[in-house]
Amino acid sequence: MENEQRKLREIELRILKALNKSKAEMTISDLEKETGLDHVAIIRASAWLSEKGLVEQKETQEVYAELLREGYEYVEQGLPERRLLNTLVKLGGSATLSHLSKETGLSDKDLNIALGWIRKKGWANFRKRDGENLLQVKESPTLGYDEELLKVLKDKGEVEASRLSNEMRKTLDSLQKRELINMRQETIRSLILTEAGTKLIQSGVSVTEEVSNLTSELIKSGKWRDTVLRKYDVEAPVITIYPGKIHPVIELINEIREIFLDLGFTEIRGPFVESAFWNFDALFQPQDHPAREMHDTFYLKFPKTAKLPNKQIVQNVSKTHENGWETGSTGWGYKWSTKVARQTILRTHTTATTIRYLAEHPDPPVKVFSVDRVYRNEKLDYKHLAEFFQIEGIVVDENVTLRDLMGTLTAFYKNLGFEKVEFWPSYFPYTEPSLQSTVYVEGFGWIELCGMGIFRPEVTVPLGVKVPVLAWGGGFERLAMLRLGLEDVRDLYRNDLGWIRRTPTLF
Ligand code: PHE
Repeated sequence: MENEQRKLREIELRILKALNKSKAEMTISDLEKETGLDHVAIIRASAWLSEKGLVEQKETQEVYAELLREGYEYVEQGLPERRLLNTLVKLGGSATLSHLSKETGLSDKDLNIALGWIRKKGWANFRKRDGENLLQVKESPTLGYDEELLKVLKDKGEVEASRLSNEMRKTLDSLQKRELINMRQETIRSLILTEAGTKLIQSGVSVTEEVSNLTSELIKSGKWRDTVLRKYDVEAPVITIYPGKIHPVIELINEIREIFLDLGFTEIRGPFVESAFWNFDALFQPQDHPAREMHDTFYLKFPKTAKLPNKQIVQNVSKTHENGWETGSTGWGYKWSTKVARQTILRTHTTATTIRYLAEHPDPPVKVFSVDRVYRNEKLDYKHLAEFFQIEGIVVDENVTLRDLMGTLTAFYKNLGFEKVEFWPSYFPYTEPSLQSTVYVEGFGWIELCGMGIFRPEVTVPLGVKVPVLAWGGGFERLAMLRLGLEDVRDLYRNDLGWIRRTPTLF
């Protein structure tokens, strides 16, 4: 007891005193009112008191009902069925539906609701007369539980479900279904003195003076020797706060940016609205390539046509498509159309952005990347979005090889935390050789991420590029899902506030 006495702090004493005075269980909010202490202080102190066996903490669930906007309106004006009934009574107790609907002043929606409830509550008989619906009051009903409850809710703001009679509680459900009220569940914490606590308080305790701020004054004067310094309790409960923060998706994009910047790359961006020329033609994709078809690519009505780059480049590209021009290729052997190349689309990959950049910067060395949005006409499901991000990049330099490409991607993946990386032969119309990369993820197996390769001469020669260009590009969302533990890609962009709050900043 001696020991306890020494340790008791002012806040704890105040709580014990309040509990002793009330001789009953008190909720945290009761204690707030009684002691004037704030919520967190009481929670902290009660954790300590309960650990010392001086109080017992209890948790109970309480359901609160509160009025929704429509509920407020109904309390003011009366439930629609009540208003309809009043009109019916005013009209002499019986009326045709068309007459009634003219007289009530209810909206069509409320009129339907009113008719439904009048029928359900059995307030009136429905008959047919001369092909017309006739309503007849059965009895003049007294105020229902639902109407009473709405009034109480309006006066009190909210009620605790456990304080209501059985009938009233049933009424809560029906009012909730009508979306007039909202039910909210809360955990109520309360405290009660234990025997030890009662003894302690009745034996007349004194409070220790504790210092929580060690000042220079205390040190200089040497008084610190005699003061009791308050100990830090790093496990003390605190209120959860949700400060503004960066969205997890942007957080990961920034991390990817950071990695490429560290590897010596520069970030580039390009337009979302692209010409078919940069998205397809410059990448040696023939104009009848299936990927250009409507079901994959979004074509724009406004603006309908795009500007093409300088004539020289357009001519080189067109000849390359037709007969291979000076690239050493035989080309595709068809008549290339400027009109098709000028079509405007939403870019389907960010390779449109790197190729654009390459045309403007044909001389080595170039190391650029982009993490940006692309669009495809996909049916949305747990795996597919119509608007998503791609991670893209190129390296332009003398003597760079496929090994450098694999090395760069391996470094990138390792920095992201993927240790096992493998490369497989693959195919893209604009690279030769082409590879696909997969990474191993515990619990998932091997996952495909970026496609890549060395741009074909049919792509580089028309732009005046004389050295090898390493290129890669791939989806971002799958990475994000792995990182964030999501199984449905749509969850990334639902902006579910709870999820955003729960997701730590460093995931
Ligand atoms: N553009 C390709 C895609 O969208 C990826 C890719 C980029 C492949 C660059 C090779 C070179 O899947």
